Amino acid sequence: MKEMQRTHTCGALTGADAGKKVILNGWVHRNRDHGGIQFINLRDRYGITQVVVDEDAPETLKALTKTLKFEYCVAVSGTVRKRPDSMVNADMTTGAIELAAETITVLSECETLPFMIDEASEAKEELRMKYRYLDLRSFSMQRKMRLRQDVTFRTREYLVSRGFYEIETPTLIKSTPEGARDFLVPARLYPGKFFALPQSPQLYKQILMVSGMDKYFQIARCYRDEDARGDRQLEFTQIDIEMSFVSQDDIFGVVEGMMAHIFTHTLGIKVPIPFERLTYHETMNRYGSDKPDLRISLELKDFTESAKTCGFGVFKTAAEGGGAVKALVVPGGSSLTRKQIDDYEAAAKLYGAKGLAWFKNAESGLEGGIAKFFQDTREEVCRELGVSAGDAVLFVADSWKTACTALGAVRSKMGRELQTLNPQEFKFCWIVDFPLFEWNEDEKKWDPAHHMFTMPQEQFIATLEQNPGEVKGEVYDLVCNGYELASGSIRIHQAPLQERIFTMLGFSKEEARRRFGFLLEAFKYGPPPHGGIAPGLDRLVMLMAEETTIREVIAFPKSTAGVSLMDDCPSEVDEKQLKELHIRAIKPET
Ligand code: AMO
Ligand code: AMP
Repeated sequence: MKEMQRTHTCGALTGADAGKKVILNGWVHRNRDHGGIQFINLRDRYGITQVVVDEDAPETLKALTKTLKFEYCVAVSGTVRKRPDSMVNADMTTGAIELAAETITVLSECETLPFMIDEASEAKEELRMKYRYLDLRSFSMQRKMRLRQDVTFRTREYLVSRGFYEIETPTLIKSTPEGARDFLVPARLYPGKFFALPQSPQLYKQILMVSGMDKYFQIARCYRDEDARGDRQLEFTQIDIEMSFVSQDDIFGVVEGMMAHIFTHTLGIKVPIPFERLTYHETMNRYGSDKPDLRISLELKDFTESAKTCGFGVFKTAAEGGGAVKALVVPGGSSLTRKQIDDYEAAAKLYGAKGLAWFKNAESGLEGGIAKFFQDTREEVCRELGVSAGDAVLFVADSWKTACTALGAVRSKMGRELQTLNPQEFKFCWIVDFPLFEWNEDEKKWDPAHHMFTMPQEQFIATLEQNPGEVKGEVYDLVCNGYELASGSIRIHQAPLQERIFTMLGFSKEEARRRFGFLLEAFKYGPPPHGGIAPGLDRLVMLMAEETTIREVIAFPKSTAGVSLMDDCPSEVDEKQLKELHIRAIKPET
């Protein structure tokens, strides 16, 4: 190999190198036979260099060149020369030169490709995943891998410079309760016992605080056995952070500084900090979502008070019965077609709405839908909701949460369809003051809204058990352009309070001790107050890369069906392996 080893990469040579003898290694990206003269575009991670086999080249070289196919891996030696003026390509670093080949060595051959490398992004996703190594050869995937590496590098650079220690925590652990299903790993030496893969390093990072590590981070792999979706994978990566002796503001400051650092040094974009803060209640009221896309200018209005005295029975009943009537004013919405409104109604119904009521504000009066109920009060209603001529108003009446969520779904759909959202605009916000508990109607019990180690806000601690639904936690999310990028909280660090929460969540003392005894035990030894957060790295890079699924920014993702198409897993294992693990597979009847 030595005599064929590259002296330069395929993205390096410029006019200044003319006359040099060089060797390039790379892949045949394109080749063209112009009768006597043959061209090869040779590609590697760094770029493309045009190789020329001249008309008067030795016959053996010319014959060999004709046998080259796409993606053969080759070594080319030759002399760099300036291209004729008419062939200079100013858009490429190597656009001013070409390499006049003297020898070409085939390092390895390539079979017929399932797709062309530079058209990989247009190939079927299943095919791209099966041949991920070919997909990853494309410049578009290489750019995303580069971005991802830049983001992790800048993350480390920022956090280490702030005194954080990067500490690895185990991936064979006792099950952590993040709310998803665990992946289990059978312990061969202990029949019937299992490790779990971490859903996050939650308990370990808290224990590191007990250890006095003070500031911890980890680019941590997390595993959750849940349905894979656009922004979810079975395994994913968090920028996991925990700090001692801090308040929510301290954590926000670190994350804001980190995001600003990452964006400045990767995309060259200045994200304004500090980020806007919205309470959970406010974001639901105004945007109908706890992960609002603030690039969308539409906002929900509250129509509940006026609805109590209005003529439309559905609204009146909802408002008087303790529910809410939410309104969405659509500027220029008079031009919405019936079909569009029906589609918005379908979106609202997906989120539990019973319908989507509407009217248009035309010159001559209110029109369509439920206009007749508001004709007499047109002026007041329009003033209250800020409706101008030519606007439309859409309404949902339901429980407060359903009304907000359903109309919020309409807002998002409308924003994406009627507004041009700039993917290079990153609108971050913090959502704070989340409820600590959520009612689980199926099991008739309270569940933690974030996780069970979250500190209730001070003013609720004395009376936690009296009205769990009202309790707010020291818990926060970081949201960007409609995605939840991070979640975190200030933790409970006193065992008695933690035990109270376990009881409220329906864990017996015995079960709490069995599952989290080690944490409660550690808390007996002077635990510091602490808190943390975990931004999802995949989602962050996805947004930065202007993609809509995290599969695009993960080198080897699982498909939406939760399988790896390249190495075909999950797969069956040998009977012998199962036997060693004392496991028998019981297949569901088909
Ligand atoms: P949480 O479960 O909210 O919090 O996760 C934090 C962030 O991780 C990302 N994320 C995911 N990304 C891809 N695929 C998934 N399946 C997936 N699940 C979560 C999201 C999310 O905001 N231990 C706590 C954090 C803490 O309290 O410090 C935790 O894991 O971006
Ligand atoms: P109806 O009186 O049932 O024919 O409904 C009149 C309009 O109100 C229809 O457009 C329905 O989609 C809509 N509608 C019905 N229930 C609700 C509700 N709870 N919130 C908003 N609109 C509704």
